[in-house]
Amino acid sequence: MRTETGQVFKLKDYRPTDFVVERIDLTFELDPKETKVISRVIMHRREGVPADAPLVLDGDEVSLDSLQIDGADIERSLYDAAPDSLTIRGLPASGPFEVTVATTISPETNTKLMGLYRTNGVYCTQCEAEGFRRITYFYDRPDVLAVYTVTIIASKDEAKYLLSNGNYLGGGNYDEGRHFAAWFDPHPKPSYLFALVAGDLGLVEDSFTTLSGREVALKIYVEHGKEGRAGYAMDALKRSMKWDEEVYGCEYDLDIFQIVAVSDFNMGAMENKGLNVFNDKYVLADPETATDADYANIEAIIAHEYFHNWTGNRITCRDWFQLCLKEGLTVFRDHAFSADQRSAAVKRIAEIRLLKAHQFPEDAGPLAHPVRPEAYREINNFYTATVYEKGSEVVGMIRTILGRGDFRKGMDLYFQRHDGDAATIEDFLACFAEASGRDLKQFSLWYSQAGTPSVSVSTDWNEAKKTFKVTLEQSLAPTPGQSRKALMHIPLAYGLILPDGAEFDGRPTGGEAGGGVFQLTRRKQTFTFTDVPGRPVLSINRGFSAPVNIAMEQSAADLAHIARHDSDGVARWQAINEQATRHLVTASRLARDGRNLPSAQELADILVAVAADESLEPAFRAQALALPAESDIAREIGSNIDPDAIHTAREAVLMEVARAGFDLFARLAEGAPKGQYSPGAEDAGKRALAGIAMSYAAIAEGSPARAKAAFDAADNMTVLSQALQVLTQNFPAARETGEALDAFKARFAGDPLALDKWYSIQATAPGAETRARVEELLASSDFDRTNPNRVRSLIGAFSSGNPTGFNAADGGGYRLLAREVIDIDKRNPQLAARLLTAMRSWRSLEPGRQEQARLALVSIRAAGNLSTDVSDIVDRMLAG
Ligand code: TRP
Ligand code: ZN
Repeated sequence: MRTETGQVFKLKDYRPTDFVVERIDLTFELDPKETKVISRVIMHRREGVPADAPLVLDGDEVSLDSLQIDGADIERSLYDAAPDSLTIRGLPASGPFEVTVATTISPETNTKLMGLYRTNGVYCTQCEAEGFRRITYFYDRPDVLAVYTVTIIASKDEAKYLLSNGNYLGGGNYDEGRHFAAWFDPHPKPSYLFALVAGDLGLVEDSFTTLSGREVALKIYVEHGKEGRAGYAMDALKRSMKWDEEVYGCEYDLDIFQIVAVSDFNMGAMENKGLNVFNDKYVLADPETATDADYANIEAIIAHEYFHNWTGNRITCRDWFQLCLKEGLTVFRDHAFSADQRSAAVKRIAEIRLLKAHQFPEDAGPLAHPVRPEAYREINNFYTATVYEKGSEVVGMIRTILGRGDFRKGMDLYFQRHDGDAATIEDFLACFAEASGRDLKQFSLWYSQAGTPSVSVSTDWNEAKKTFKVTLEQSLAPTPGQSRKALMHIPLAYGLILPDGAEFDGRPTGGEAGGGVFQLTRRKQTFTFTDVPGRPVLSINRGFSAPVNIAMEQSAADLAHIARHDSDGVARWQAINEQATRHLVTASRLARDGRNLPSAQELADILVAVAADESLEPAFRAQALALPAESDIAREIGSNIDPDAIHTAREAVLMEVARAGFDLFARLAEGAPKGQYSPGAEDAGKRALAGIAMSYAAIAEGSPARAKAAFDAADNMTVLSQALQVLTQNFPAARETGEALDAFKARFAGDPLALDKWYSIQATAPGAETRARVEELLASSDFDRTNPNRVRSLIGAFSSGNPTGFNAADGGGYRLLAREVIDIDKRNPQLAARLLTAMRSWRSLEPGRQEQARLALVSIRAAGNLSTDVSDIVDRMLAG
């Protein structure tokens, strides 16, 4: 029973519902195969809607048991119940009435993980974006806000805890071994924020006292036996609650805040009102099983979901086209939180890396779409790096343009004016325009134009006149459905660094450039600085103030000058990264053409000098030492990509750097903090530097001994997994590698999250041979195809984290992915579609691989019976 796959939803078609919902009462009688849901909705016809207009509610694979209006059975001729809609005619022309809908659903056989499903014996819901309609017929759209009362009835044995949104009303015994609980959420909310969880779980409790002195009970539910791993998440939650009060004046608004960690989950987590549901990967941590990166992700995602309480829940979205209104803004807020908890520069560097690795390729390929899309076939496919990450960058640009003071005023106005609303991007921008008196019309193109703008930069120094000119010129290439682009408003932070390393602080003429930011609004603009004492070096797009590609011919000496003297740490890293990228791009092109590789001595000297500089934070030095990934190099090259050539070139550079700094790396490799493990940023930074130094030292030695010794001595997962990675990826044939892999597997056999790392590390071992290993792992009995984390750890890691393995010239990697996508699609379309996006840059490959990729995509399209999710992705990838 598939719904129409060709239907396109359009932003311009928005119109409010014909009926207004006032409140909803839900009763669940939970049963694995036959859960009974009764929904009582009070509503009335919206003013001005014709008296004969029917009520049309959404459904998805639900079957109707009974239907009543104001408590009386409805005549059969007055309604039509289809699996995907319920149409009711003859409803009152005015005044409130009650619709009672009874449906039966089967959580146990719900493999899509949308709606009500079971995970490890726990009942759990996921309703964003359109999962509520899989529970009952309803107006399942974000602009329909209602007050919910929820009653849950279940067997006591099966479900000790019965949870839903809002505050606990009460509960008790029901009948024959069953009990019940009732919840009331006073805050009107859209159906996508509804949640229900019921099961036998372990509980960790704490409390938080809000700014105004109210005490909030905090509860985190995890699988039994894992209570000891919830401490960091609880700590991160309390820090998030405090931060939102301090920075935005946002206070929590219920008596209780609950988090449930589940092991089968399609995404990271979900911000259901008062009852967040998390992928357990982003809750559970202890030093033995979680890496520093895991801890950082937990902190960020706990904060993200908590911050949604104001940006998403109190103020929600009018329709799904406005998704970035909550997601871009909430990512922006979680970034700021993490920056405050850790080193801001190091956090920003990681963000830039992530944005360029995920969002830039999306924006440059067939799946490109605006931050606010204007049409979609399947909304699940728009939870993208563009909506989230670029959406966050756009909010960041508003702050850069307005300055922190006016930005905060705009946010205050947004909270005050739109609390309780289902809002739009226009509403959001109007608050900043009003608070600052600025016209943001041109700026708003960031929401509607897809693609990464390019800014070419040229400079002109006049020694005699002591003037320095900076000419900026913008362009934006066509993207699917948008052939002509308008000129954007691009805020580019800059600095002029004088020969002695000091910064020139004069203002230029030629356009708005206050606060060290060029406001580029025309196609081409020249900013002229006068009375500059000596030839300055331009540091441009500092801190990545705008998500653009900069094209500038800047000498290696000038980049080195920035790397040494820029007052902004992020800009120093940008200069180092630019230097490394340039070298790797050149070397990769030469390798592709079968020519000799250039010496990397100059780059090696810079990297070794940074590694040795103890005035810099260890985490920063680790970031500088991490060469651009093979996928970064591919992105910069842009077309006719040969992944093997890139790999060869990068390996050669790694070796040169490793040899140039061997003594230093060998020493730094011993610098991880000893004793009690702390997940804090300082110790994590030291481990990061020691880890990357260890890998360089091992590469220089050409022996697995050092990594094996680190593996054997490791007393935390960060060091352990780093060592296993070096062994597996650099010494695949060594005896020690097999020993370490076996030891890891035996040790973590009962721990799915730790074991996921075992799969990923093997899936990302470079080279065409890896595919055979992936097939072997896929075929093994402990590979659980229904668990999204496990699927991502193997198939996802292979297809999006292994350029040489996945893109093997014979096309075998593409065929593997196609086969798995077709299979997974039968159970979990959302997961299948997301895996398939690994092929989004297929058109930039060299012709042979491109053809293999095309054939694989065509084979998916030919498979038939595809979900809307997968067919939408495959059609867009093949279009044009
Ligand atoms: N709104 C969630 C977040 O950003 C993510 C989300 C959207 C989600 N759709 C989902 C999570 C489906 C799980 C399943 O935090
Ligand atoms: Zn979110």
